[in-house]
Amino acid sequence: MTAAIIDGKAFAASLRVKVGELAAAFAAKTGRKAGLAVVLVGEDPASQVYVRSKGKQTVEAGMASFEHKLPADTPEADLLALIDQLNTDPAVDGILVQLPLPGHMDEQKVIAAINPDKDADGFHVINVGRLGVGQPGFVPCTPLGCLMLLKDQLGSLSGLNAVVIGRSNIVGKPMAQLLLAESCTVTIAHSRTKDLPAVVRRADIVVAAVGRPEMVKADWIKPGATVIDVGINRVPAAEEGKTRLVGDVDYAGAMAVAGAVTPVPGGVGPMTIAVLLRNALVAAYRNAGLELAADAI
Ligand code: GUN
Repeated sequence: MTAAIIDGKAFAASLRVKVGELAAAFAAKTGRKAGLAVVLVGEDPASQVYVRSKGKQTVEAGMASFEHKLPADTPEADLLALIDQLNTDPAVDGILVQLPLPGHMDEQKVIAAINPDKDADGFHVINVGRLGVGQPGFVPCTPLGCLMLLKDQLGSLSGLNAVVIGRSNIVGKPMAQLLLAESCTVTIAHSRTKDLPAVVRRADIVVAAVGRPEMVKADWIKPGATVIDVGINRVPAAEEGKTRLVGDVDYAGAMAVAGAVTPVPGGVGPMTIAVLLRNALVAAYRNAGLELAADAI
């Protein structure tokens, strides 16, 4: 038996089509495009690539993209002033401040300055709290994308044992909350977890989000389990001087044991920006007081 390959690239493409349709309907109803503002401070190369893709995909979905690039030595007060301006700008429905920020800035303070109802990333403590108590809000893009893939693959997740490896604010913790809300029995494992292989072996659902290349081995995986690999790690390739991308899971090994696995690349990665566009569009509908059916997107 070989596991099914979960095609995140195709799922993300179909999500972007739905976003595009709803974005067109929003523009027809309001006379303006839904808008997403992205703020990048500094020149981190990976962040520059992400921000460029976000801008491109925002425009392709029929939404307005506002990019703000600030030098690495920008005073924190200037960034806070820009966020204030975006909070009150009626053309801006969603705001994303690309992380990580330069060392002289307090990330939590910057996130706290974003209007929670424009927080397309779902990082504001208000949205973290809303997720915790089950109120509508905004959920971080990568874990929400993982949940969409899981529900598409499995249908109901109720009663399943889920193990999330990693406890970051961006992925691990919100992923655990989302799985709990789907009535999974959730374990959050991390670098201090004792006998991680034994913990993972109990899981019907494994979400690996630790940033360690191919850490999760085939013999850790329960036969038939669904494996979601959030890792994107660059490692040396066989050919001298080249690199390749691998996940946090030994993909070839997992394919022989699991029921379904996300590949790297082409699994979770493409979902993140598609969900960001979805979040920004939902913000636009909500803030304009327009109905959007719960199952619309
Ligand atoms: N840096 C890495 N991932 C993310 C993300 O999802 N949102 C933001 N704002 N920054 C990131």
